[in-house]
Amino acid sequence: MRASAPGKAFLFGEHAVVYGRHALVTAINLRCYVDVSKGSSIRITSPLGTTSLDFEVHPYVSFAIKRFSEIEKINGVNVKIESEIPVASGLGSSAAVTVATLAALDAEFEAGLDKEDVFELARKVELDVQGVGSGTDPFVSTFGGAWQIPERKPISLDMEFLVVDTGEKSITSEMVGGVAERRKVMPEVYEKIFDAIDVVSIEAIKNVSNQENYPELFRINQALLKAIGVSSRKIEELIEKLDEFGIAAKLTGAGGGGCVIGIGQEDKLMNAAQKFGGMIVRAEKEGVRVEQ
Ligand code: PMV
Repeated sequence: MRASAPGKAFLFGEHAVVYGRHALVTAINLRCYVDVSKGSSIRITSPLGTTSLDFEVHPYVSFAIKRFSEIEKINGVNVKIESEIPVASGLGSSAAVTVATLAALDAEFEAGLDKEDVFELARKVELDVQGVGSGTDPFVSTFGGAWQIPERKPISLDMEFLVVDTGEKSITSEMVGGVAERRKVMPEVYEKIFDAIDVVSIEAIKNVSNQENYPELFRINQALLKAIGVSSRKIEELIEKLDEFGIAAKLTGAGGGGCVIGIGQEDKLMNAAQKFGGMIVRAEKEGVRVEQ
C-alpha cells in the first residue's frame, strides 16, 4: 500500500511556539510518498540508502515501524520512500515521512487506525527521535490545512509563497536546544522576545484574509528570530538579496540553515524562484492519504 503526507511551513511563530506562544503554520503542496509491502525481513529504501531497522540512517521510519509494531505484529516489511520535501530544511520532511509510513503500514496490515491514532503515534516518534518538539509538524502533516497554534484552530488560508533552500542543514533538536540554553542565561530577555513574536503571530492570524501587512510582519519576525540566535549568515544574505527583488522573506522552521520563505507579487516570486533556484509552494488542504 502507498500513502503520502504533506510537508509544512511555519509562516509565523516558530521557536516561540515551544514556549506556549502563538504560531501560524500551514501544510504545503510538497508530499512524501511511502510504499509498504509485507516481506520476510525489514527493508527500508530511501535516497539515503537501503537498510534494515536503522535508528541512525532512517530514525523516523525505524521508530515508526517500532511504534506501529507495538499495536500490530510485524514479521517483515519493505518500506520505500520518495519525497518532494527537501530533508532537514525546516519544511517538515521528518514528520511527513513518519506520518506517511504509519498510514501505509496501517493500510497494509489493516490495523484500523484513524487520523487521530496516526497523529498520536507520529507524535511519539517525534519525541523518540528528537526528545523535544511542539508536535506541530506531525499534527499539520496528518490533518493538512492551516492552523493557529497552540489552540489548533483551523484557519482558511489561500496563499502561494516562495521557498528557497540555503543548502545548509537545519537540525531541529540542536536549534531548539541552543535557544533553551541561551534562554537560561537571560530568561527575561528571551521571554520578552517570545512575547513580541506572539504579538506578531496574533496580528498575522487576525489579518489572514487581507495580508497587506504580511511583508512587514515577515521582516519583524525574522529580526526577532535573528535576535534569539537561529538565523545564519547565509539566511541573512539570501533574505537581503530577495528584498532587492521586492520579496519579504524569513527563515521557516528551526533555522540555522534550511529554507527561507518569501512573499510578494506573483511575477516577482517567479523571477526570484528562477534566480535563486527556489520553488513556488501553495498552502495545502489535504493531510495524510492512502494513494489508490
Ligand atoms: O524545522 P522544523 O520543521 O523541525 O520546525 C521546528 C519548529 C520549532 O518551533 C523550532 C520547534 C517545534 O517543535 O515547534
